[in-house]
Amino acid sequence: MKQRPHIVVVGSANVDLTTFTDDIPRPGETIFGREFHLGFGGKGANQAVAARLCGAEVSMVARVGDDLFGPATIRNFTSFGIDAGRVLITPGVSSGVAPIFVDSSGQNRIWVVKGANDRLLPSDVDAASALLRRAEFIVLQLEVPLETVYYTLRFARAHGVRTILNPAPGQALDLPEVANADYVIPNETEAEALGGMPVRNLEEARACARRLVEQGLRRVIITLGANGALCAGPEGIRHVPPFAVDPVDTTGAGDAFIGSLACFLSGGCEESEAIARANLYAALSTLSVGTQKSFVPLERFEAEWALRKQAAGAMVR
Ligand code: RIB
Repeated sequence: MKQRPHIVVVGSANVDLTTFTDDIPRPGETIFGREFHLGFGGKGANQAVAARLCGAEVSMVARVGDDLFGPATIRNFTSFGIDAGRVLITPGVSSGVAPIFVDSSGQNRIWVVKGANDRLLPSDVDAASALLRRAEFIVLQLEVPLETVYYTLRFARAHGVRTILNPAPGQALDLPEVANADYVIPNETEAEALGGMPVRNLEEARACARRLVEQGLRRVIITLGANGALCAGPEGIRHVPPFAVDPVDTTGAGDAFIGSLACFLSGGCEESEAIARANLYAALSTLSVGTQKSFVPLERFEAEWALRKQAAGAMVR
């Protein structure tokens, strides 16, 4: 892999308030949860941390609030060695937060309160333009204003910088704007929102990916959790098989996939291998609780990869 590719994430930073619970209360009901974790999250920040742990130089372009969480979030980036020079504290606004509930099967339900993430504007992108032009990949999600996402995609295309868009949280989007992205990477529910059709199994995922490519998206990777991932482009659709794990908390697994994929691709991995690696990186993140806290360092990943790549039938060198 190329030494230290440079990745810039233009996106969200949240604080995750995660409750582990066996039941979800009905309206008006109070129940006990099992356990609580406070941690740093936000799709953008998580993807930045995953890319950094996989070996990339990472810069973050984001906004946090002028509350307890804002400076702590900046310190968290710095502790990972992520350049946070473009993470701005926004006066009079709360930081982004995410109350998360994880059930006994490891599945999560997430509410995001965007706070300062909603103040990340095209002018912030302009202010970071020198940084963005030098990037090997720019990575985006949808927890910041759509106008900023579209603006950054146009900027990147005009300057020949490759981009990954994670269209999460899922919503209907302007496809010609989205078509500026080199990779669009939704999970099943996000693919449903984007494609306007159900994605409940592999066949429906194939149909949705095909439709999105026909509608002009360059490359679409649908992440399918325990079923691996589908990669679609003008040449056709390929299924990249999963790695079997017994998950305790799936929160942030999609972010682990995207951040690690950005690093593997920009580090020079061939695409099929990069996706297989990202599948494994995401699977390993489900083995412990939390979002960023559950992302493994590169040495641990490479050891698992050496052991497991053949078993998964991954198309690797
Ligand atoms: O993808 C998981 C993330 O979604 C959490 O960290 C939460 O903050 C929300 O952004």
